[in-house]
Amino acid sequence: MIRAFLVWLQTALGKGAGDTAQSWSEALLGSLNFWGLLEGSHLIGLMLFAGTILIVDLRLLGVTFRRTPVSVVSDTILPLTIFGFIFVVITGMGLFFAKPLFYYHNIWFRVKMIMLAIALINILVFHSRIQRTQGSWDSDALPPAGARTAAALSLSAWLVVITFGRLIAYDWFECGKPQPAFINWAEECKVSEKGAVALSGAHP
Ligand code: HEM
Repeated sequence: MIRAFLVWLQTALGKGAGDTAQSWSEALLGSLNFWGLLEGSHLIGLMLFAGTILIVDLRLLGVTFRRTPVSVVSDTILPLTIFGFIFVVITGMGLFFAKPLFYYHNIWFRVKMIMLAIALINILVFHSRIQRTQGSWDSDALPPAGARTAAALSLSAWLVVITFGRLIAYDWFECGKPQPAFINWAEECKVSEKGAVALSGAHP
């Protein structure tokens, strides 16, 4: 179902009549500079996002700005973080649009999306539970264990998202190459264009 949608997205959406007509996805992939501009923008947005969330998380861990109330740090910085996040999501979706099927069968991309979801759930838990009591520890140099745990989880999850985002460019585990059974399973290579090839060379 997801794959069928991505096939349509990659090959049919925006395609005009005629043999040489391209879909919007194919046109984006084939464009001289647009993909590169999108990737550069993704990275610049990422710097704003990661740089600002780092400051808020380090304050929650009691490492930086210990004499400034948590609310002052977060009220000042979080609007920039949110702007950076929206920017990164929009440019990320643009990058994805150029090669939806490639990313769909890519282990790095899949883990990146799972960690992104975990990081977002962590934010929801922080806002709905831990932040409710913030009034009582707002000015503490060392926030309570719950807040520190959420901050540590946030930093770790974003670090994985960034690392796996960078790793997408490496094709070590691409479908169609001989891969361990686990990788073929995790990337759903069997239904990909390049298929699943077992390490032994036989089709599993
Ligand atoms: C805060 C969230 C995100 C972070 C921290 C992040 C991080 C990264 C990083 C570090 C790269 C590597 C850039 C490079 O090496 O040039 C990257 C590339 C990429 N990201 Fe994101 N990303 C985020 C969100 C998203 C989202 C929401 C999507 C798509 C729905 C996405 C799709 C992509 C794609 C398709 C690439 C290009 C990979 C390639 O072909 O080299 N990203 N991201």
